[in-house]
Amino acid sequence: MREIFVANTDEIEDRERVVIVDGSLEIGVFRLGDDFFAWENNCPHSGGPICQGRIMNRVIENLDENKKSHGFLYVDEDVHIICPWHGFEFNIRTGVHPGDSQAKLNGFDVLVRNGGVYVEIE
Ligand code: FES
Repeated sequence: MREIFVANTDEIEDRERVVIVDGSLEIGVFRLGDDFFAWENNCPHSGGPICQGRIMNRVIENLDENKKSHGFLYVDEDVHIICPWHGFEFNIRTGVHPGDSQAKLNGFDVLVRNGGVYVEIE
């Protein structure tokens, strides 16, 4: 196991990410508030650069009891990364696709120490 320095905490804005390269491995490190998450930059759909996609809240359709639509809503607590190749979305906190729990990003542990952000790689 080894650690790779990513950035100082104040160098990663809230709801942003940095992508680091270690040999053939690319890792996106995301910040949501005071929490950090690290995912391999390799979309499980077809290998696209998932970590370089757009970040936005999950969108759900606002349906009433008769299934009539009243537009769309953003879900504040579910922040997603959207793959730039074909649009698959993954929850940044869990790495899981919202519609298919079998579709997951490959994750890494993140350490925050003395103002620095590190990822652990085996
Ligand atoms: S490669 Fe990511 S959605 Fe297809």
